[in-house]
Amino acid sequence: MAKMAMVVMWIAFLSCCGAAALGRQLRFNPKSGELKILQVADMHYGDGKTTPCEDVLPRQIRGCSDLNTTAFIRRLILAEKPDFIVFTGDNIFGFDSTDAVKSMNAAFAPAISSHIPWAAVLGNHDQESTLSREGVMKHIVTLPNTLSHLNPAGAVVDGFGNYNLEVHGVEGSRLENKSLLNLYFLDSGDYSTVPSIPGYGWIKPSQQLWFQHTSSRLRRAYAAKPVPQKGPAPGIAYFHIPLPEYASFDATNFTGVKQEGISSATVNSGFFTTMVAAGDVKAAFTGHDHLNDFCGELSGIHLCYAGGFGYHAYGKAGWSRRARVVVASLERAEKGSWGTVKSIKTWKRLDDKRLTTIDSQVLWSKTSNRKH
Ligand SMILES: *[C@@H]1O[C@H](CO)[C@@H](O)[C@H](O)[C@H]1NC(C)=O
Ligand SMILES: *[C@@H]1O[C@H](CO)[C@@H](O)[C@H](O)[C@H]1NC(C)=O
Ligand SMILES: *[C@@H]1O[C@H](CO)[C@@H](O)[C@H](O)[C@H]1NC(C)=O
Repeated sequence: MAKMAMVVMWIAFLSCCGAAALGRQLRFNPKSGELKILQVADMHYGDGKTTPCEDVLPRQIRGCSDLNTTAFIRRLILAEKPDFIVFTGDNIFGFDSTDAVKSMNAAFAPAISSHIPWAAVLGNHDQESTLSREGVMKHIVTLPNTLSHLNPAGAVVDGFGNYNLEVHGVEGSRLENKSLLNLYFLDSGDYSTVPSIPGYGWIKPSQQLWFQHTSSRLRRAYAAKPVPQKGPAPGIAYFHIPLPEYASFDATNFTGVKQEGISSATVNSGFFTTMVAAGDVKAAFTGHDHLNDFCGELSGIHLCYAGGFGYHAYGKAGWSRRARVVVASLERAEKGSWGTVKSIKTWKRLDDKRLTTIDSQVLWSKTSNRKH
């Protein structure tokens, strides 16, 4: 019954909005001068109503399913009214999904029906159902309102779902054709395929080369006429598996909690160093470790988790599922117009009665750009 309703709704979405997202350019909001991004990590969507919740309190087990994950996204979208939604992998939990397409359609449905542009990257579990990693990403890019891409045109890179998005200035302003904030999305892989290296995948040299070229191209465009700007526009990066550098912190120098080890690859492929050298990325946001939700700063880059979101994902009973919000704000310019990015802030929202906001912090601001 519920599945039937879902299918009908789905067809309605497809027919109503498919073309609307094509060519949509992300821009700062003309009223607030902000861009607000909601990050949803590790939905672990299965078959919907029949897929049970994991790690909830005994009294919460009955009637708890993937539909609670759906309800949480819906409530968050209403409460935060984000300008953009990013899904950072393990969007579906392939082992418990009978049909990857159906699971993805259901998992992304709240974003699609909100008409808010959204993007996704892959985790290590997305390909464990009926589709390969390539197949999963190829399906994602066909969904309504998504700004996701399979891979950059004209570059050969490892993985699926490596792309960047520019966030332009307010429409009608002198910065309307400049990217004032750059978003990078990378496929951090699933598992090592090198026999002598155990464990998770990593961001490969080909992907880092693409990132370097993209970052320097964006820096040149930012500095070019008209309205040339100094330095790079700030950037942020989204991917699934945390980098080994996430292990550089403890409770004295991060905001949030660390309740499990850092499950990065067992080798360091150098992406953190590549980002530091490029100089534009101010923060990286991952998922993967559901019980960690901290942000810590190393060499001028904040390394942040979102914390586990999905109910069919391991978690900790009594510790709320959560999501991360990031807001980039423009500086006020002359005559009520907007300038370039002044600050990047973040907080988390818990799936409790009041969607409690916790751990608000400023990640970067133009004036206190001290570490570089
Ligand atoms: C799951 O959703 C059901 C139905 O809305 C609700 O009664 C229940 O409290 C939810 N469980 C959790 C753990 O949020
Ligand atoms: C931005 O680009 C459009 C399309 O090329 C052009 O019409 C517009 O004048 C440009 N705006 C500015 C401020 O340069
Ligand atoms: C965080 O603090 C610990 C000591 O409590 C220290 O070993 C570590 O280097 C610090 N990390 C950073 C990134 O400052």
